[in-house]
Amino acid sequence: MQFNFDKIIERTGTNSVKYDLRDIIFKKPDVVPMWVADMDFETPEFIRDAVIKRAEHPIYGYSFRDDAYYQSIIGWIEMLHGWKTEKDWLIFTPGIVPAVNFAVLAFTNPGDKIIVQPPVYFPFFTAVEKHNRILVHNQLQKNDTSYQIDFELLEEQAKDAKMIILSNPHNPVGRAWSVDELLKIGDICLKNSVLIVSDEIHADLVLPGNKHNVMANLTEKIADITITMHAASKTFNLAGLATSTVIISNEDLRKTYQTFVQNLHIEMGNVFGKIATQAAFEHGWAWRIQMLEYVNQNVDLVCHFFAEKLPRIKVYKPEATYMIWIDFSRLGLKDEILKEKMIFEAGVGLNAGIDFGPGGSQFMRMNVACPRETVITALEKIDAVFHNL
Ligand SMILES: Cc1ncc(COP(=O)(O)O)c(C=O)c1O
Repeated sequence: MQFNFDKIIERTGTNSVKYDLRDIIFKKPDVVPMWVADMDFETPEFIRDAVIKRAEHPIYGYSFRDDAYYQSIIGWIEMLHGWKTEKDWLIFTPGIVPAVNFAVLAFTNPGDKIIVQPPVYFPFFTAVEKHNRILVHNQLQKNDTSYQIDFELLEEQAKDAKMIILSNPHNPVGRAWSVDELLKIGDICLKNSVLIVSDEIHADLVLPGNKHNVMANLTEKIADITITMHAASKTFNLAGLATSTVIISNEDLRKTYQTFVQNLHIEMGNVFGKIATQAAFEHGWAWRIQMLEYVNQNVDLVCHFFAEKLPRIKVYKPEATYMIWIDFSRLGLKDEILKEKMIFEAGVGLNAGIDFGPGGSQFMRMNVACPRETVITALEKIDAVFHNL
């Protein structure tokens, strides 16, 4: 079956963060919205059908997760990533950002040092700082085409850190970390007793020709210090259903995490999140492949556009995620000016790189999980403003 990713779907008036908060976020309600990690593709029919079928039953009472739910997750992860997990290892959380915050609270104390790798998904910063832990920046190093980890710095920082929060694959720089890179992180963490939180929400969004490596699937020793986070939400456009999974094979760590979650009484979740997640993982194989091929063509389009029309603006071609990390630094514009030009002159709503912490200044992040027509419109608008700069 062929799926149609070109279809434009009107989203205004649905309380969509991406569309209906543009006036608040950008102070310009008609920017082409290519910011928050939310797709403009319709959630596939096999998921909508399952949700509608359940919604037609007139009672939405408390519900539990049955065996089929767990098997759908276990089967998907094994088939796609070759990682064999067990039902007991899986813990429900209402989103990955809450799950990261729970890990910080469950395993560290105020004053403990926690490492992150900026420029990175900014809720990692608040997950550390809002709970009075100390943020340690293991800033990624860039060359002309890609980003690398500063292992020398990490060796030093790990000596007195309690935890590292990884974005694997990395948002926003788009790296799908290699086995070698992850093993090196794992070795440093093992040597220094640093717990690893591996946020793998983008695991299923690795673009053609690249591979996702599950941190906890590398060695048993690494698995023993790793808390993995996974969800169907990014891949199948279900973020509004607030459903995700934390996977911990180490029994002691799992008990600690589970007790924390149980004490907050949030394990129940919502009935539609369960139904949608199960349908995604049971029926989503072909849809995901076609969606990623389409996204990859959007990525190529953006890369070619900048290379040909605006070569001073450099694109870091992602290996994973539907986000493109774009370097405007050669234009020499201050962040505020760059942002204003993009919003008020070009009329395009991107994420400002500066929000992703050190290394993000003079960058912008573009979400290309949208119909090609939207990408073309945005690129034309950007060209009209930036071609003389
Ligand atoms: C790395 C990363 N983690 C977590 C999230 C959001 O997770 P959730 O909506 O499940 O809290 C995102 C969304 O963009 C993300 O990029």
